[in-house]
Amino acid sequence: MLSLRVPYTLSLLLPAMAIIGCQHIGINDSNSIFVGRYTQYMRGNIPNQYADLINPLPASTENISDGKKLYQMQCQVCHGASGGGDGLAGKQLVPRPANLAFTRRLPVGTDAFFFWTLSEGGKPFGTAMPAFGERLSDKEIWQITHYINIGFTLDQGTS
Ligand code: HEC
Repeated sequence: MLSLRVPYTLSLLLPAMAIIGCQHIGINDSNSIFVGRYTQYMRGNIPNQYADLINPLPASTENISDGKKLYQMQCQVCHGASGGGDGLAGKQLVPRPANLAFTRRLPVGTDAFFFWTLSEGGKPFGTAMPAFGERLSDKEIWQITHYINIGFTLDQGTS
């Protein structure tokens, strides 16, 4: 697992690489990526209770399909059906909803990063990403995380 105590230069380099990566896949307007969250994560500054979390649920068919239902109810409106950040309600937001199909492939896309982001949302950063810690159980958050990590791929038949 990636150490949270990465050198400072690397913590700056990774968000830059993420931006380059987004340009590479055709998302290149300045509002479509929000790097503050990556920088905080890479510097090891997320609250301690999230730091080393690993998804405790098995990636069973049931957990993935429950995660899909939850994703469709809670996330799709902003992040889009395939996680591309292209949901209807997200179009006017600045920064725009993240492309989760891409996030999950980044070095920052760990279980801890997802659990922290879903639990606390964008309040610390002043973004529209809601905090789901009060609305969803831990189990539900982990099911959604499984869906993003595995279900997107299964649904699209890509890897
Ligand atoms: C009201 C619109 C909205 C809804 C609903 C929403 N999000 Fe977000 N989300 C955002 C925005 C805007 C951002 C970018 C700003 C940020 O990271 O705080 C974001 C960022 C994220 C990130 C950070 C990814 C990255 O690469 O930085 C994750 C993970 C995420 N959302 C997952 C979810 C999941 C899972 C759900 C459903 C449980 C959800 N979001 C529901 C708007 C939304």
